[in-house]
Amino acid sequence: MAKRIVNFNPGPAALPLSVLEQIRDEFLDYRGTGMSIIEISHRSKQFEETLNGAVQRTKRLLDLGDDFHVAFIQGGASLHFSMAPMNLALEGKPLDYINTGTWSTKAIKEAKILSKDVRVIASSEEKDFSYIPKSFPVDGNASYLHITSNNTIKGTQWADFPKAGQVPLACDMSSDIMSRPFDPKPFGLIYAGAQKNLGPAGSAMVIIRKDMLDRVPANLPSMLKYTTFTKENSLYNTPACFVIYTINLVLRWLEETVGGLRNMEKINREKADILYGFIDRSGFYRGTAEKDSRSLMNVTFRLPSEELEKKFLAEASNAGLGGLKGHRSVGGCRASIYNAIGVDEVRKLVDFMADFQKKEG
Ligand SMILES: Cc1ncc(COP(=O)(O)O)c(C=O)c1O
Repeated sequence: MAKRIVNFNPGPAALPLSVLEQIRDEFLDYRGTGMSIIEISHRSKQFEETLNGAVQRTKRLLDLGDDFHVAFIQGGASLHFSMAPMNLALEGKPLDYINTGTWSTKAIKEAKILSKDVRVIASSEEKDFSYIPKSFPVDGNASYLHITSNNTIKGTQWADFPKAGQVPLACDMSSDIMSRPFDPKPFGLIYAGAQKNLGPAGSAMVIIRKDMLDRVPANLPSMLKYTTFTKENSLYNTPACFVIYTINLVLRWLEETVGGLRNMEKINREKADILYGFIDRSGFYRGTAEKDSRSLMNVTFRLPSEELEKKFLAEASNAGLGGLKGHRSVGGCRASIYNAIGVDEVRKLVDFMADFQKKEG
C-alpha cells in the first residue's frame, strides 16, 4: 500500500485517489489494446473517444451548450497571456485588464509586449493584492475585459464576475475551474492550466465562444491561432494525450461521484468555512485576504512570527500534511484545498493547527 500524505500543494496538486487508482490499474493495458495510454496513437479510436469524452463532459459540467469550443493546448495557462491578445484584439478597441495579482500582472505584461493598447481599469496592487476590486468603469468599446478568477498566490477570488455588458470577459480560470457553476455566456475566452483542478501539468483547457473566432487574424503562426485547435478538435498536432486522458477521468469523477458542480461548490464552501472559521476564531493564525475576497481554493494565512511559521511547516510535514508553504514571493502559509481535497482532510489540518497553537500560542 502506497504511503500518501494530505497534499495541500498549489499546483501540480492533489487529484482524486480513485482516479489515480484507475490510472494505475489500466496503465499497462488501456482498454484491451495491449498498450499503455501513453503508447497509443492520438488518432486511434480509443484516444479520440477519450478526447471527445473530456470535451463533452466539460460542456455538460459547465453547461456550455453549442456556443463554445473546448480545446486542449500545450504551453500552459501562460501561453494564453499572449494568445488572448494576439487572437482577440480588435482594431481600435483597447484591451482592458483588472490586476489582482502576480498572474494578472503577467497577463498584462505579455499584452504590452505585443504593443497592444492595454488599459488597467482596476487594480488591488496598492493593498498588496489582498482584495478584489469592487467598482471600476467598464468601457463598452473594449475588445475584452481580462480577469483572473482566482488568485492562487494571494488567496483571493472573484465571488461574482464583473458585469461588462457586451464586452466579452477573457478569464484565467487556472486555479478555480470546475470548482463551482457559473453562467458562461459573458465569457469570450476561458483558459486554465490543467495542473490544479483538472489533471497533471502539460496542457491548458481552453473554452472559447464561437463568435470570438471571427477575430483571429489570418497572419498568426498556426500554433498560435485558436482556430487551428478548434477546427481540428485539438488534433492539429500531437496533443498532451496523458493529460487529456486524466482530465477525462477527473471530469467523470466530478459528474458521477461528486454529482456535478453544484455539489462540488457546496463541498468547497464547507471546507473553506471550516478552515477560515477556525483561523478567525483562533486569535493566533491570521488570514491575509480581505474577508469578502477570500478564495475557496487557496487559503493564505500567517502565524505570529516567521520563526513559528518555519516550525509549523516542519511539524505539519512530519504529521503528513504537505504543501502548506506560501508562494516563494510572499512567504507565510497557504492551504490549497482544490476539488480533490475532502472535508475530512481539512478537518485533519484544523486539528493539527489547534494542537500547534495549544503548544506554541
Ligand atoms: C491563476 C494562474 N494563472 C496562471 C498560472 C500559470 O500556469 P502555467 O504554469 O500552466 O503556465 C498559474 C500557475 O500556478 C496560476 O495559478
